[in-house]
Amino acid sequence: MLHNLLQNALKFTLRGSTKVIISYDDQSMNLQGKVIDSGIGISPQKITSLFKLRITPHKIENQHHDDFATSDHAKISRLNSDRENSGGQRTSGIGLGLYICRKLCQEYRGEITCESEVDCGTTITFTMRMPLHYNTHGSLRH
Ligand SMILES: Nc1ncnc2c1ncn2[C@@H]1O[C@H](COP(=O)(O)OP(=O)(O)OP(=O)(O)O)[C@@H](O)[C@H]1O
Ligand SMILES: [Mg+2]
Repeated sequence: MLHNLLQNALKFTLRGSTKVIISYDDQSMNLQGKVIDSGIGISPQKITSLFKLRITPHKIENQHHDDFATSDHAKISRLNSDRENSGGQRTSGIGLGLYICRKLCQEYRGEITCESEVDCGTTITFTMRMPLHYNTHGSLRH
């Protein structure tokens, strides 16, 4: 979960910060996480299908990035094609990450939501209901 959410936050944020907040409530056994970034944001139209299964061919994804007019969007689009040409890491994946995150949350009777504003940033919030216990060393275990 955190790997994909953080990977997204980092690859779509060129300035500002990325934060992770995790909390756990003993009474309700609810684990809550937030991954907050100050990146390029996600449009309201895109948010509606964000957690759906849609494996995107890379060429279509790149075309989509190229359509953005604002500078950070354009930079991320360029980074994407530069990395692709030099064999480095791409910013566009296959679009499975958030779908898998939602499935995992559902498995643990929780949910995942997205609040975002284009050019301001994105906050992904997730909950999972799971019993966590402290072992004799004081560390949490599931
Ligand atoms: N923090 C974010 N900021 C801006 N856009 C985001 C963010 N998180 C996700 N997105 C958008 O949602 C899309 C879907 O994200 P998702 O993690 O499902 O797939 P992916 O990162 O493209 O590929 P994969 O996770 O399979 O490698 C991303 O391609 C991106 O366009
Ligand atoms: Mg991803």
